[in-house]
Amino acid sequence: MREKKLKTLKEFDFKDKNVFMRVDFNVPLQGQVIQDPYRIEKSFASIEFILKQGGRLLLASHLGRPKGRDLSLSLRTVAQYLSEKKNLEVLFIEEPDSLLPKKLLKGLKSPQVILLENLRFHRGEENLDKNLAKKLANYTDIYINEAFSISHRNHTSLSLLPELVKEKGVGFQFEKEIQMLSPLVNQDLEKPLCVILGGSKLKDKIPLMEALINQADIFLIGGLMAYTFLKAKNCFVGKTLVETSSLNLAKNFIDRLELRNKDYFLPVDFKGQWKDQIKNWNLENFPETATAYDIGSKSIQMFQNQIRKAKSIFWNGPMGFFENEIYSLGTSSLAQFVANHKTAYRIVGGGHSALAVRQYEGEIDHISTGGGASLSYLQEKEFIGLKKLYTLQN
Ligand code: 3PG
Repeated sequence: MREKKLKTLKEFDFKDKNVFMRVDFNVPLQGQVIQDPYRIEKSFASIEFILKQGGRLLLASHLGRPKGRDLSLSLRTVAQYLSEKKNLEVLFIEEPDSLLPKKLLKGLKSPQVILLENLRFHRGEENLDKNLAKKLANYTDIYINEAFSISHRNHTSLSLLPELVKEKGVGFQFEKEIQMLSPLVNQDLEKPLCVILGGSKLKDKIPLMEALINQADIFLIGGLMAYTFLKAKNCFVGKTLVETSSLNLAKNFIDRLELRNKDYFLPVDFKGQWKDQIKNWNLENFPETATAYDIGSKSIQMFQNQIRKAKSIFWNGPMGFFENEIYSLGTSSLAQFVANHKTAYRIVGGGHSALAVRQYEGEIDHISTGGGASLSYLQEKEFIGLKKLYTLQN
């Protein structure tokens, strides 16, 4: 019986092969300056490995959400980073569907790599263009996906291209993402499992909460989404933004948690703005004209008491508007507490929460590079970019 298998980097013979590696170089930019090169750095082990094995490496990524060609989102900035900081000799190609990639790949020698211009400049990338996929496949011997964080998107370079390439697999970071997230997907974590959720859009988080409702023992809910839950419980939240259209969703979810006897905790005190001043207050005295931007010290304590009991922790989303230092304490103190709670298996989903715990990398079991992607993976168990990578083995 032939089994489906996900091939990892060490199982390939890259020598003298054209390797198309889909990466996620979607990094935050300010003008021409990369604000956070984390994702580039995370793909570097795979880049180095393939070059060392004698592969001729072509890197392809998107950057931002351009509508057509938009030079402020050119990957030339990343090309410069790779040559200055990583000592690679980068050959930059603007047209992925031209004859140039094939021609340059022929004579490519480490430390030379090819970097394609932002794939989203080409209409075909997001439109599942078979023609574009064929042209990319025409110069690809081995396809490697090292872009976990974008692999939930059904785009040409992620789903059509791997269908056309026989030899395909995942990079080191992608492999690690699957390995570390799969105990959560397979409900194979030590209990109690504490799920910490925050961030802004409750509507986006409900499918994840649904996916985790059976296995989670404790839910801690902070961030902007908490105010919609509080409002759904008829609490007064002053002028804090509430997702009115999701109030029923929130109410139904609370009913389901209560029916299942799950422990769940919402903030009981806050820090925010009230009459042009920064203040703290309790839920029962929520001032009419106040807006909350962070959880308060009693809530922090209450959440920490629950985290202390956990043998497994999954965290997604900050507790408040942590980008502003004044409102960062809820998120930063939980981050430190989670990092120090070493007896639990701890996973942090990507996006903002990953940024908040970045300084504890190495202490936390896994910090995902994918925001939307890690949520999709946990909800769907498999996503498009992964499904297309399996090969059949005897
Ligand atoms: C991300 O930054 O989460 C990924 O690169 C996905 O980008 P997208 O949401 O623009 O598809």
